[in-house]
Amino acid sequence: MSISPNVVKHRAAVIRSRRETLNGHRSVNLWFTGLSGSGKSTLAHAVEERLHLMGCRTYVFDGDNVRHGLCGDLGFGLEERSENMRRIAEMVKLFLDGGVISLTAFISPLHADRQRVQEIIGAEDLIEVYCNCPLEICEERDVKGLYKKARRGEIKNYTGISSPYEAPSNPDIEIDTGHKTLRECVKRIVDELKERDIIF
Ligand code: ADX
Repeated sequence: MSISPNVVKHRAAVIRSRRETLNGHRSVNLWFTGLSGSGKSTLAHAVEERLHLMGCRTYVFDGDNVRHGLCGDLGFGLEERSENMRRIAEMVKLFLDGGVISLTAFISPLHADRQRVQEIIGAEDLIEVYCNCPLEICEERDVKGLYKKARRGEIKNYTGISSPYEAPSNPDIEIDTGHKTLRECVKRIVDELKERDIIF
C-alpha cells in the first residue's frame, strides 16, 4: 500500500466500537461475487432492505453505480478490475470504522484480487458470498442485453464470454442464485449474520 509523504493519521475519539454500541449491531462487509446477472445486486439490496427494517445501518455499493463515479475512469481489463476492487476495499474499511454493514456487489472475477480484498479489509470483517448461477441462466436472463452484445463481439473482455471468472474455492456462503428464491437467499445471509453475532 502506498502512503503519501508527510501525512500523519489523526486519532478519533469516536471510534468503531462506540459507533457499534450506539447502533446496536456490529459492522461487517458482505462481499458478493459472481457473474453479471447472477443476482448479486438484487440480493444485496434485498438483504439491505431486511436489515434496514431491523434498524441496522447499511450501505450497498454495486459495480454499475460505483463505475458512474468513484471508479468511472476504469474499464474492464483485468488490471482495471483489480484497481476497481482495491478502491472499493479501501472504502469498505472506512465504512467498517463508521459502524456500517456494507454490502458490495462486484463481479470480482479473479481469486488473487479477492485475496487482496481480504487482506485490505481483514478476514474477520469480511463475509464472502458467492452467487453461484450457471452462465446459461445469466445469459438467458440478460437483463441489460450485454451478453447478446458480448456474443456479437460488440463488448470485449466480457466476463464469462471473453474474460475469465474464477469461482471462489472456499466462500463463507455459497448460494445457488440460479434456482433458489430471493426470500431463501436473504434468509441464508441474515441467519449467518445472527450466527456470527453481528446482528442480534
Ligand atoms: S468487476 O469485474 O470490476 O468487479 P463490476 O462488478 O465493477 O465488474 O461491473 C460489472 C458490470 O458492468 C456488469 O454487471 C455489467 O453491467 C457491466 N459491464 C460492462 N462491460 C462489462 C464487461 N466487459 N465485463 C463485465 N461486465 C461489464
